[in-house]
Amino acid sequence: MIQKNKKRINLLEQQHILPREELSALLDGQCEELSAYLFPKADRIRRENYGTDIYVRGLIEFTNYCRNDCYYCGIRRSNRSAQRYRLTEEEILGCCEEGYQLGFRTFVLQGGEDPIYAPERMEALVRTIKSHFPDCAITLSVGEHGKETYQRWFDAGAERYLLRHETADDSHYRILHPPELSLQHRKQCLWDLKEIGYQVGCGFMVGSPGQTSAQLTEDLLFIHELQPEMVGIGPFIPQKDTPFGKETAGTLEKTLFLLGIIRLMLPQVLLPATTALGTIHPRGRELGIQAGANVCMPNLSPVAVREKYALYDNKICTGDEAAQCRNCLAARMQSIGYQVVVSRGDHKSRTSTPQ
Ligand code: 5AD
Ligand code: FES
Repeated sequence: MIQKNKKRINLLEQQHILPREELSALLDGQCEELSAYLFPKADRIRRENYGTDIYVRGLIEFTNYCRNDCYYCGIRRSNRSAQRYRLTEEEILGCCEEGYQLGFRTFVLQGGEDPIYAPERMEALVRTIKSHFPDCAITLSVGEHGKETYQRWFDAGAERYLLRHETADDSHYRILHPPELSLQHRKQCLWDLKEIGYQVGCGFMVGSPGQTSAQLTEDLLFIHELQPEMVGIGPFIPQKDTPFGKETAGTLEKTLFLLGIIRLMLPQVLLPATTALGTIHPRGRELGIQAGANVCMPNLSPVAVREKYALYDNKICTGDEAAQCRNCLAARMQSIGYQVVVSRGDHKSRTSTPQ
């Protein structure tokens, strides 16, 4: 059995994809020995493409108001316990300023789908940040919008967009989301973003309620079809005030295994070791890097609001200053032989862009 799965890993390395049944069997075969076979391969492929450089993104969680009601998410609109906040443009620029001093050259503006941040207001914000920090990349992560809106933000200077697809299986999508949201629309958004020219990130939670290997297989097949520049995956972690508050969290082992597989499928992908991974294990992010990841996204949001952006419980880095977080991360990466670099950290296919 293990030999068969090692063969599957070798094939995946060569062909970057496997037939559905083979992928599914590989996912079912996840165990310590197989991971020990996979991770050094994933690490080598990452080194071939990006060396031992770790790209960092300054994450600015600028609003936790959200019109959506996803069952897993702590900032869903029905969560009356969430303390809502939104940063002003000045506060956001302040975060960028501090981030720039600390060596960040990518800012990720992440928020709920907050109607107050209308398309024009977002556009103005992107233009302002871009004019102050012309050598930085702006990544948006603000949910589902129309193609014209995405185009408008792209024209204003946003170059990357994160929109996890959450699950590529329709029936599973229904379990995780209220009826007004659809997988079809979510996928359409991703294709629109790609067509406009964004570097696009999709992704999913590992171990979300109801998830099976068949569904994870669909996630991998969708990722292969979309060919995104970035893939964000992290374990599902229950948030106590949501309908999934009593569900079990996704595991470290499975998340690491999937990171390794995704590195084999997309050798040049920008793959973060996520905050959620750092939350379920004290060395989760380091282990993520050793399984093939090459990006970290420390928090740049003001300390006063960090605890309020609680997508899930026990999130790390909610009490540390930006500088502390940046230095902590640099030390963590150094301890395993990697270095955080001062760079926009574009996808390898886009490195004609000035560094
Ligand atoms: N656990 C882990 N990840 C979560 N996200 C939202 N809620 C949770 C949770 N409870 C992830 C979703 C979303 C991203 C911003 O955070 O995948 O796309
Ligand atoms: Fe935030 Fe370590 S990375 S405190």
